[in-house]
Amino acid sequence: MSSAPTLPRVDLRSDTVTRPTPGMRQAMSQALVGDDVFADDPSVNALQEKIANLLGFEAALFMPTGTQSNLCGVLSHCQRGEEYIVGQMAHCYRWEGGGAAVFGSVQPQPLTQQADGSLALADIEAAIKPDDAHFAKTKLLALENTWGGKVLPQSYLSEASAFALQKGLARHLDGARLFNAAVAQAAARGTSPYDEAKRIAQCFDSVSVCFSKGLGAPMGSALCGTKELIGKAHRLRKMAGGGLRQAGFMAAAAS
Ligand SMILES: Cc1ncc(COP(=O)(O)O)c(C=O)c1O
Repeated sequence: MSSAPTLPRVDLRSDTVTRPTPGMRQAMSQALVGDDVFADDPSVNALQEKIANLLGFEAALFMPTGTQSNLCGVLSHCQRGEEYIVGQMAHCYRWEGGGAAVFGSVQPQPLTQQADGSLALADIEAAIKPDDAHFAKTKLLALENTWGGKVLPQSYLSEASAFALQKGLARHLDGARLFNAAVAQAAARGTSPYDEAKRIAQCFDSVSVCFSKGLGAPMGSALCGTKELIGKAHRLRKMAGGGLRQAGFMAAAAS
């Protein structure tokens, strides 16, 4: 009796189940490492410099997870009693255990997203609180790109970014899948994915990217921003238990 041919299994549960390539495994096994709590890990330092340059920021910080990266990003912008405007279905509101509220006493102001994942500027405007003791102080607009597999239009990012700036809000991007957005945008415009990644990132004051989603790295994210913001995030990361030691083995896979 002939047995049915075995087909290669493709696991479509999530882009987080991708495995490191042989090249990544080799990079990990050969990584130069040090104690990253002393900022002594050359592989971590190299990755941070590379991703900051790639996205056009002064500095970057390697993070164990995207959740911690978003948390440290939001808490670097907002203090106790302040709030961030965010999509009702955005990861850094709905899927991160309410971390900003729990650990930072920072209130989310969720807004219903439009079908493409964007937040209507009129809704953002209506949600910004007046300077009044009754209200939390509105400090930050947090967007997500891609969201639900959709790329937010570059024109929207530019408009929302300028609008937030005009209203005195800082701008954070959960760009867990920013490189997917950049590749799709580059294909549509006939440009380079690296240029598009920078174009997207430059609409924001801080950007979190994940190396473990679709890119194959076993773990890790990076938060990018100014030196000042990354200095604050560094302290927050330590408090959140994210000060890693020989993290270069993981950074090497992501480089
Ligand atoms: C858009 C987005 N942001 C952030 C995260 C959090 O990443 P992590 O699972 O590494 O904490 C995820 C995880 O799936 C995500 O999809």
